[in-house]
Amino acid sequence: MENWHKEAIVYQIYPKSYSDTNGDGIGDIRGIINKLDYIKSLGVNTVWLSPCYPSPGDDNGYDISDYRGIAPEYGTLDDFKEMLDGMHSRGIRLLMDLVVNHTSDEHEWFVQSRKSRDNPYRDYYIWRDPVDGREPNEWVAAFGGSAWEYDELTGQYYLHLFSKKQPDLNWDNPKVRQEIADMVNYWLDMGVDGFRCDVINNISKDFTRPYAGGNGPRLHEFLHELHERALAPHKALTVGETWGLTPAQALELTSEARGELTMTFQFEHLLLGRVNGDKFDPEPLDKKAFVDILAKWENGLKDDSYPVLVMENHDQPRALSRFGDLKYPYESATMLAALLFGMRGVPFIYQGQELGLHDPTFNSLDEYRDIETINAYNELKASGRFSEQELLAKMQYGSRDCGRTPMPWDTSENGGFTSGTPWIKTQVDTGFTVEEQEKDENSVLNFYRSLLSTRKTEEALRDGEFKLLLNENDTSVYTRSADGSTVYVVCRFADSECPMPEIVPENATVLLNNYDSFEKTLLPYQALWLKA
Ligand code: GLC
Ligand code: CA
Repeated sequence: MENWHKEAIVYQIYPKSYSDTNGDGIGDIRGIINKLDYIKSLGVNTVWLSPCYPSPGDDNGYDISDYRGIAPEYGTLDDFKEMLDGMHSRGIRLLMDLVVNHTSDEHEWFVQSRKSRDNPYRDYYIWRDPVDGREPNEWVAAFGGSAWEYDELTGQYYLHLFSKKQPDLNWDNPKVRQEIADMVNYWLDMGVDGFRCDVINNISKDFTRPYAGGNGPRLHEFLHELHERALAPHKALTVGETWGLTPAQALELTSEARGELTMTFQFEHLLLGRVNGDKFDPEPLDKKAFVDILAKWENGLKDDSYPVLVMENHDQPRALSRFGDLKYPYESATMLAALLFGMRGVPFIYQGQELGLHDPTFNSLDEYRDIETINAYNELKASGRFSEQELLAKMQYGSRDCGRTPMPWDTSENGGFTSGTPWIKTQVDTGFTVEEQEKDENSVLNFYRSLLSTRKTEEALRDGEFKLLLNENDTSVYTRSADGSTVYVVCRFADSECPMPEIVPENATVLLNNYDSFEKTLLPYQALWLKA
């Protein structure tokens, strides 16, 4: 495993909502090609592209029907290669999305598999007999309902941890593992640099558990095998989407000696503001816990593992709406960026995050597109416990669609995203477009640019040791140190002032500041990177 991941700064593109060039209302690969100079200008050096493979679109491309193709609505394989060349010629690497816990039910393997019990593809998926005329166990799918779907034709149930149009692959079958390794090699041979691995710790199931999920007994074996067969020979970078791990489990998956994954996401801080992590059940944000959790992971992934720094992606509402303050949109969005991206690890920035976007407003259920949101709404409605207004407030708080509306490029209709009718509503707010922020020296966009360039030039900010010095009364201070140089990261996580903490050196050099002044008072949502 090469160490290039330590230098990576990743920009996530959700292709459906990035830029549409043919007026069908759906973003496309040519749209990404047109924006490559913009992407480069941010200071990122890696792109993670959410799935662009052929898909019936039950879960916006996370239900793949052909692992080796490009969805016609996004373009052709030639467009894809042109995009990849365009990235490489600008020094940008490409991570594709590897969705191999499940396929679409319209994938040829599943079409075959469901035909008969003795079809050669039967064991590509997980089929079980009914137990007492019912589902084989109590497992519930992530998008609601049982994780088992009965198939009349053969009288068995198949497992789907997500929607019933996303049957789970049977990784215990060696043929499945070889097919996946061959497919991974196909993209790596084409020049792709690595993968973000969708719900990857689910590929080995633990059927002894009462609730659905992964981290099963063969997880490490499967990942190591894929690493040997495809990833290692190409020095590919992988980042695992792994919910619910402890730092110790993450270390097991990523420590170099084991040869499994390069890195894993940690999302523990993204569960805050939600009762028991339920995204549709709001509670006030515990700001101290937010910083403490991040520090726990910084401390837990020392030595031969490198953390991932993330607060937004296509599954999350916008960070500004969740953790920031809409009365201080610039200050709180930039403070959150300085707080998170001052830490040791690979920054992941989701499209639109660099503009400090907040959630769009959804006025009714039919403005939503996400299967998870629609299913949750229907389930909660059927419970009879909530009024229509309460239901809509819940969806507004937690829906994945909050982060999926089109990128606002300019102040023209539909934000310059499309000349047609966008596939999902577009919200364009004054001051929150690329066009406006390009011109404004003090925009979130230009703050991200200075933040990223400072990170690259300061040794201590790259691999330097992390130490949390203070986290109380909505103020936090941590340091990053390497080779005798120390950077202090000082953040005010509140809409009020406070005295500058005494541990902050007075005569430090300001590397980054979201206000003009650095004095004896820390201003509302002020964030500073100081070099001692
Ligand atoms: C991951 C993806 C999410 C998708 C799910 C099933 O969590 O990020 O968008 O719905 O996996 O593939
Ligand atoms: Ca299009």
